[in-house]
Amino acid sequence: MSAHEIRHPLIRHKLGLMRRADISTKNFRELAQELGTLLTYEATKDLRLETHVIEGWNGAVEVEKIAGKKITVVPILRAGIGMLEGVLSLIPGAKVSAVGVVRNEDTLAAHTYLEKLAPDMPARLSLIIDPMLATGNSMIATIDLLKKAGCKEIRAMVLVAAPEGIAAVSAAHPDVAIYTASIDQGLDSNSYIVPGLGDAGDKIFGTK
Ligand code: URA
Repeated sequence: MSAHEIRHPLIRHKLGLMRRADISTKNFRELAQELGTLLTYEATKDLRLETHVIEGWNGAVEVEKIAGKKITVVPILRAGIGMLEGVLSLIPGAKVSAVGVVRNEDTLAAHTYLEKLAPDMPARLSLIIDPMLATGNSMIATIDLLKKAGCKEIRAMVLVAAPEGIAAVSAAHPDVAIYTASIDQGLDSNSYIVPGLGDAGDKIFGTK
């Protein structure tokens, strides 16, 4: 399975703050964006570079830039929006491809209701963002539609992942690397992650 639990001290610290039951909407929101930034740093650390020569202050100088594919960030609505600004703070030129998926709370099946993709998807690296990887159903549905749109390189960034979700995504899409701030214990009987964060969408949007 291709899941990377990023054990950077800043990530561990910030995630610990997010787990507090009494956290405010403001703090949860800010921390979700900050973790989005930190995960982006890790998930992009092997991007290929190419050199080129520019005119510097003291004459010609060889510098590096990211080679090849352009990036599209793919927030899974609505909770993925909670990490979006954090990702864009490092990749400000990225196009945003919004995907709307709701889970049926009875069957847990994922239903896709919105697909607003950037142009030229086959030429882009897709970075999916969603705070919680629980059953994996929404993530699998999103990867399915990205592959249908021709995407060849897809990575996923989540704040917290359940082993069950990682296993499901890895079985369906073994080529997709998952970057997470934590691999938690597992799912409860309602398919919430434990210890988890609770309902991340509600906490980000202040709807509960
Ligand atoms: N979605 C959430 O917001 N939290 C979970 O624990 C699982 C799914």
